[in-house]
Amino acid sequence: MHDQPITSQTLEDTATEALSALKAIADSKALESWYSAYLGRKGHITQMLRRVGELPKEERPAFGRRANEIKGELEAAYETQAQALKAAEMEKALSEGAIDVTLPGRPVARGRLHPSTQILRRIYQIWADMGFQIYRSRDVETDGYNFQLLNFPPHHPARDMQDTFYTTDEDVLLRTHTSPGQIHAMREYYPEPIRVILPGMCYRHEQITARSEIQFYQVEGLAVGYNIRFTDLKGTLTDFAQRMFGAGRQTRFRASYFPFTEPSAEMDVECILCNGDGCRVCKYTGWLEILGCGMVHPIVLQNGGYDPTLYSGYAFGMGPERITMLKHGIEDIRYFWGNDLRFLEQF
Ligand code: PHE
Repeated sequence: MHDQPITSQTLEDTATEALSALKAIADSKALESWYSAYLGRKGHITQMLRRVGELPKEERPAFGRRANEIKGELEAAYETQAQALKAAEMEKALSEGAIDVTLPGRPVARGRLHPSTQILRRIYQIWADMGFQIYRSRDVETDGYNFQLLNFPPHHPARDMQDTFYTTDEDVLLRTHTSPGQIHAMREYYPEPIRVILPGMCYRHEQITARSEIQFYQVEGLAVGYNIRFTDLKGTLTDFAQRMFGAGRQTRFRASYFPFTEPSAEMDVECILCNGDGCRVCKYTGWLEILGCGMVHPIVLQNGGYDPTLYSGYAFGMGPERITMLKHGIEDIRYFWGNDLRFLEQF
C-alpha cells in the first residue's frame, strides 16, 4: 500500500476496510494490533496524512480535512469497541468463575505513629491523670534561658555536659534541654501554683553514635507551690514509674547534680526486662536510670518570679527515646531518626 499513489479513493477504501476489520475483532489483543495497523505511528491513516505532500497542491486541503475526519471517526469507533470488549471479557470472567470474590482483599499499607510519638502520648496521659498540663516552649532559646537563668554561670563547667548548637548570634542557640521552659512557665503563671509538663525536642552538638543523638525528646516536669517537699517529688515520680512500668515496680533515688535543682537526684526503676535480677540491659545492676530530678533551686525560683522563702517546687526531666529503648531492647538510638520503615513498622 505504501508504494501505491495516495488518492481520495484509497483513503476512503482504507477507512471502509478499517471499519469492517474492527467489527470482526473479538479480543483486546487483536484490537491493539488493529490500532497500530491503522492509527499507530506507522499505521495506514497516519502514513497517508504524512504523504499528503505527494498530491497536487489544490487537492491537499480537502484530502487533509477528510483524512483527519476519518482519523477521528476511527478513534471513536476504536473506543466504543474497546469498551464493549472490556465489558464482554469481564462478563465472561465472572460467568466462568475466574474471579473468586471470596478471596481476601490485598492488605492496604497503614501508616502509624512514630515510636517517640507513641511514648510521648503515653507519658502525657499519665501526667494528665495526675493533674499536670502540657506547657510548650520554644526550641530556639537564648543563652540566658537555656543556661544563665537556670543557674549556669558563663563558663561554668556544667555547660560541658551539654554541647551546644549556637546560631550565628552566639547568644541564640538550640535548647540543649527542656529546662528553660521552667522559667517561661513560672513567668507566665506567677503567682499561681504550677503543675506542668514541658515536652519538646532538644539538640546537642555531639558525635552521633549508637548511644547519643544530636536531637532527642525530653519531657520536663515542674511543680511550684506552697509547702512542696522532696517527699512530694519522690512520691509523685514513684507513682509515675508504677503507672508507666507496672504496679509494684520499685524505684530508687541517687544523689546527683544539676545547677538548677538542689538537692538533685536521679531516679532508677527496677529493670523492666529482668525485674531486678540483673541482665544485659541493666548491666547486671537490676536498675535502670530513667530521669533526673530535684527541688527547684532558690535562684531559679527567684528568676521565675517566685519568692523562694514562700514557694518551693520540684522539677524532673526524662528522655522518652531512652524509655522506649529500654522497653523494647533497642540497642541503637540512631534508628529513631533514620526513617527506616523496617524499624518504624515494628511499633
Ligand atoms: N535538664 C536536665 C538534663 O537535660 C534534666 C533535669 C530536668 C534534671 C529537671 C533536673 C530537673 O539532663
